[in-house]
Amino acid sequence: MMSKSATRPILRMLGRFYASTSSGVEAAASSTTSTTQTVKQTLPVTGHKLAYSEFGDPSAVIRRERFQIDAVPENHIVVKMLASPVNPADLNTIQGTYPVKPAKLPAVPGNEGVGVVIKTAAIPGRDPINEGDWVIPRTPAFGTWQAFVHGSSEDFIKIPQMDLVTAATLSVNPCTAYRMLKDFETLKPGDRVIQNGGNSAVGQAVIQLCREFGLKCVSLVRPREDFKQLKAKLMTLGNSDTIIITDDDLRGMMRDFKAQLALNCVGGKCATDIMRVLDTGRTMVTYGGMSRQPVVLPTSSLIFNDVKLKGFWMTRWNRTQPHEDRKEMLEYLSNLALTGKWIPPEHKLIPFAKYRDALENTMKGYTGVKYIIKFD
Ligand SMILES: NC(=O)c1ccc[n+]([C@@H]2O[C@H](COP(=O)([O-])OP(=O)(O)OC[C@H]3O[C@@H](n4cnc5c(N)ncnc54)[C@H](OP(=O)(O)O)[C@@H]3O)[C@@H](O)[C@H]2O)c1
Repeated sequence: MMSKSATRPILRMLGRFYASTSSGVEAAASSTTSTTQTVKQTLPVTGHKLAYSEFGDPSAVIRRERFQIDAVPENHIVVKMLASPVNPADLNTIQGTYPVKPAKLPAVPGNEGVGVVIKTAAIPGRDPINEGDWVIPRTPAFGTWQAFVHGSSEDFIKIPQMDLVTAATLSVNPCTAYRMLKDFETLKPGDRVIQNGGNSAVGQAVIQLCREFGLKCVSLVRPREDFKQLKAKLMTLGNSDTIIITDDDLRGMMRDFKAQLALNCVGGKCATDIMRVLDTGRTMVTYGGMSRQPVVLPTSSLIFNDVKLKGFWMTRWNRTQPHEDRKEMLEYLSNLALTGKWIPPEHKLIPFAKYRDALENTMKGYTGVKYIIKFD
């Protein structure tokens, strides 16, 4: 997407042009969302966006303001955002601790989400994306927490219409789960995958993909009062070999237990424990650090078990791998979603005006749900 400063003179120029032609850009579109609401829009469009002018505590630095798009460059499509999740990486970006930073401040937060195209590029037939299509952004730090976005068709990926929350959460967490299961170990049906953060959005996708790939998945979650209920919910995502335990339970079963892949998004002691049960020569992939504790390696695992430690970052994969591979992965995941074989994480839809609830609760831990901003 072009930066706002780069587009502003063009917008002003186009704004004058469209004002002088009186009708403006016709951008009527209709689309069926999960609430079967019809979207019809013309430019200019007015809505709200979240913005921050300095890095810091999200609930302190984020504000909600009105904005208007009068006109856009002729090769741009305009997208009405439908829903966007609040992921830990979004909060880290606002805090200024995430490696992807906005090009400049003030910036609009939000890395992923789904929207409906309300205006295609001005030259008919040139654009593979049509009015009414659902799209997700192609690049991170896109600024999805706003009512409308625009960019060239290369800035978006078209996806089939599906359940709203599934679409809004398609591009980051399930893709991360998919890549980690595919790219680090050659796993055969019956092999075991062990993961911590088993109730995270990534963790829930791992459980479901293990089921699809015929793998046995062992998921650790932090001990909690409602563990039984959580376990019952997570079990419904898996197969008959799915195991859900607390971090503490693993120690009791370590002796006879071996896994062929370990996935770590927590760090600290919990990462050390899942590494201890890795089979000789196998890999632990670290993709998150929710506990903010370093990963401590047991010396014996390295010497006697020759375990491998790798990191994974979806953003790097998207940047470095062919776009065709990404499309193929999104197609696979979309098909799972459309056939009811992949369901989105436990979630709570939050009206845009109540965005603070989403930010504050996501930062708390033990929330049990992914907060999804639903735009007006
Ligand atoms: N490398 C990548 O490309 C990539 C891609 C996607 C996600 N991630 C990372 O993966 C992790 C999970 O993301 P998500 O969107 O799936 O998360 P999420 O749905 O928001 O869930 C957060 C998870 O972290 C756990 N957690 C929170 N605070 C914790 C703490 N202090 N100690 C231990 N566990 C804690 C939560 O467990 P409780 O219920 O016990 O609080 C929950 O399992 C994050 O670190 C995220 O940045 C990385």
